[in-house]
Amino acid sequence: MPLVPMRQILDEAAKGGYGVGAFNVNNMEQIQAIMQAANDTHSPVIIQASRGALSYSKMIYLKKLMEAAVEEFPHIPVSMHLDHGNSLETCKEAIALGFTSVMMDGSLAADGKTPNTYEQNVQVTCDVVEYAHPLGVTVEGELGVLGGIEDGHGAGLSEAEIEDHLTDPAQAEDFVARTQLDALAVAIGTSHGAYKSGRKDPVTGEMLPPTLAMDRIHEIHARMPNCHMVMHGSSSVPRELVDIINQYGGNMPDAFGIPVEQIQDGIAHGVRKVNVDTDSRLAITGAIRKVFAESPGKFDPRDYLRPAREAAYEVYVARMKAFGQAGHATDYTPLTLEDMKELYK
Ligand code: G3H
Ligand code: 13P
Ligand code: ZN
Repeated sequence: MPLVPMRQILDEAAKGGYGVGAFNVNNMEQIQAIMQAANDTHSPVIIQASRGALSYSKMIYLKKLMEAAVEEFPHIPVSMHLDHGNSLETCKEAIALGFTSVMMDGSLAADGKTPNTYEQNVQVTCDVVEYAHPLGVTVEGELGVLGGIEDGHGAGLSEAEIEDHLTDPAQAEDFVARTQLDALAVAIGTSHGAYKSGRKDPVTGEMLPPTLAMDRIHEIHARMPNCHMVMHGSSSVPRELVDIINQYGGNMPDAFGIPVEQIQDGIAHGVRKVNVDTDSRLAITGAIRKVFAESPGKFDPRDYLRPAREAAYEVYVARMKAFGQAGHATDYTPLTLEDMKELYK
């Protein structure tokens, strides 16, 4: 099976009332773990690469790894998606490489940090849709700005500032109508990375979940029942993974994520794509730390990359089951980009 257009994966998820994990990758081990998890749970899946991933792995290596993935598991619908594209040029590069879906994150300027105006966002998203749809390629856009990230992609907003940059449901309706995009990433108070909450219980000092504006998702879904929403920053940052890291020499106090139940609430109200990167990073880092701490004499990379791959696999399996995509791999006949070209006309 060739890579399928993400639009079809999301349309089918909407029909079935489930969400699909979109997992970030940088290397072979992550791709293998995702595909094995998708195979074992019979899940369609979205594999995505950020600009950072493409520059780390060099584009051509990721492309070839993805080709190997679909060749090994021909019965699994897989979409290859560009995460947080920052310009039309970046999206064009990804499409030329064979990505079946791109995100034009017009919520931020091309520097990936400065918030754009609404009109700038509309313009750049329209430009990408006009380029991508005639080629059959899916487009995700973003309205509103996510919370801070220590480095990498994001405006670095504080928790107080996030409130001013949540997605406005009325504006979302206008945005979808004007851009004709396929999937809308919404800002509801999540942020990238392992530190998603600044809140602590004043009495016990324990971390509390971040406050999410789930009502925005509910309202957008009520206004546009057919709009596929995307939740970024959706890692749950499981306590047990953070504990392994800290137990074996790491230092991640106050790491905290999004409870899976909140994501499931989103899925019940139109969220179809759920972005997860950090949880895989945590699983991999914990597994490697454990080997290094317990077997300091080992120096064969396979001795720590194999457990790292297995730990990531467990995360993907758990998410695929929790989001509901498990069991849906063979529900439909995959479309090609040629089919999508006709549909977009
Ligand atoms: O957008 C955030 C994703 O986790 C990708 O992160 O830019 O460090 O690859 P990255
Ligand atoms: P996490 O950092 O929560 O995994 O979010 C990933 C993401 O949104 C990628 O676009
Ligand atoms: Zn993101």
